[in-house]
Amino acid sequence: MHNWQWLAGPLVLLAAGLVPGAARGELPADWDQMTPAQRGYYYLTEKPYVTVDFDEQTFDSLWKFWPEPLRAKAEAAGPAERRRMAFERYGLTSRPGYEPLPDGPLPKPLQYVVDQRGNWTMNCFACHGGQVRGEVVPGLPNSNYAMQTLTEDVLAAKLELSKAPSRNELALPFIPMGSTHGTTNAVMFGVILLSQRDADLNVNRSKGLPKLTHHDMDAPPWWHFRKRDFIYIDGFVEKGHRALMQFALIPSNGPEKFRQWEQEFRDIAAYLESLEPPRYPWPVDQQLAGRGEALFNDHCGECHGTYGQREAYPGLMVDIEDLGTDPVRLQSMSGLDRKQYATSWFAHYGEKKTHDSPTGYVAPPLDGVWASAPYLHNGSVPTLWHLLHPSERPAVWKRSYAGYDREKVGLEVESWSKLPAEVTDKQQRRTYFDTTGFGKSAAGHTFPDRLSEDEKRAVLEYLKTL
Ligand code: HEC
Ligand code: HEC
Repeated sequence: MHNWQWLAGPLVLLAAGLVPGAARGELPADWDQMTPAQRGYYYLTEKPYVTVDFDEQTFDSLWKFWPEPLRAKAEAAGPAERRRMAFERYGLTSRPGYEPLPDGPLPKPLQYVVDQRGNWTMNCFACHGGQVRGEVVPGLPNSNYAMQTLTEDVLAAKLELSKAPSRNELALPFIPMGSTHGTTNAVMFGVILLSQRDADLNVNRSKGLPKLTHHDMDAPPWWHFRKRDFIYIDGFVEKGHRALMQFALIPSNGPEKFRQWEQEFRDIAAYLESLEPPRYPWPVDQQLAGRGEALFNDHCGECHGTYGQREAYPGLMVDIEDLGTDPVRLQSMSGLDRKQYATSWFAHYGEKKTHDSPTGYVAPPLDGVWASAPYLHNGSVPTLWHLLHPSERPAVWKRSYAGYDREKVGLEVESWSKLPAEVTDKQQRRTYFDTTGFGKSAAGHTFPDRLSEDEKRAVLEYLKTL
């Protein structure tokens, strides 16, 4: 509690100094013809809702703090190649439609708003916009995002450049951001920030901090939003545009900001509703997939729903004892944390439903599941083949940046039975997923073991078609 209060003061002072460079640019010429969903995408990529993270000069000096031999490679490279290397190190991508031109501008990241003064501000795509086999897909979980490593490097660069640290760097000693690339402590960010507000969202620091259970989660794909009545893995919150606004809860955003931004978040919700999953880009064995569909409907459909002609999604909660996947996420939120949300402006003061004591996790829709590896809520399982073979899931794995495993359907990985002894550096360690860590278990969901090997092959083929 003490630590956080120390932190909250500087956060506010800092925010007051760093005017969050609101989208000062002109609105697009065709603004009046844009659909709500198109406006939503515009807000997400062009309007900062939190304070500035760093400027371009800082970002472009980060390579000086990289370990060798990466640093030397960056030093020898030109600006475009250096930008590409930085994007790869931190899990950032250019925006869809960006075409590099020789001597043209360097790519803006999908994951940050970049204003005309060159200030970069994190947006929702930091966690919710990624790439599969090198193709950028907004709404796909960003399974490469290196939030903690980026924040550490930014802090080092700012010290060198005598620039003031901003919210994430100041929070670094108190709040872990993510111990494996592609996953973040997002749930605790929300719990912490909401705990400092009253029901009307006035900042009230005298409330102290709740018990915190830091753990990492893999963000879910946004194209599920249209199918879900309740969001989050435990189905805790009834869907609505206000639920999406929690990301903006930094102390410098007062209650009036949330009322002011409400219409914009209706558009952002419309954008989420409009998203379609990407299609599997390679040939599928239709006959095998057809057999897989029947098996899926018999063995998986009661929880995950049906697809194609007779589309249905039950949104079924499965008790954690029957499911057996990692329980930390479920246990991390107390009844009090849940009540705090349920009675607040976000839930229309209780008008929107919330589940105050979920008993497990909700089976997610599986649309576009070929693209959204890794699997399970904590991102512990690298491919669909491993999901279907519970006893063969790797204890420790490391992915390639953009490789795709077409045989196992998911991330291209190397795996180990335990963390290699030479991996001692904390930044290097975050490139390995170690399932023995807290909240990182890849156990459970053994339902596929009711199928024979042959049947699993058919179901795997069918999953490519969703
Ligand atoms: C730091 C990473 C991060 C950022 C930034 C972030 N999210 Fe998320 N988001 C997550 C994680 C992790 C979950 C899963 C939480 C859970 O299920 O408990 C999630 C869940 C969601 C869900 C629920 C999806 C479902 O099917 O259950 C929606 C919708 C969502 N986020 C929208 C947003 C929007 C809109 C923004 C920006 C205003 C945003 N998120 C910013 C990490 C993030
Ligand atoms: C009793 C209900 C139930 C049955 C039966 C079931 N599942 Fe699941 N499934 C779940 C739940 C709940 C989760 C979420 C678990 C978690 O994230 O911890 C899940 C997760 C998954 C995921 C990971 C999704 C993601 O995006 O991370 C896949 C893939 C999946 N199931 C496929 C299947 C297949 C294939 C079958 C049939 C062989 C099946 N499931 C049977 C409840 C079920």
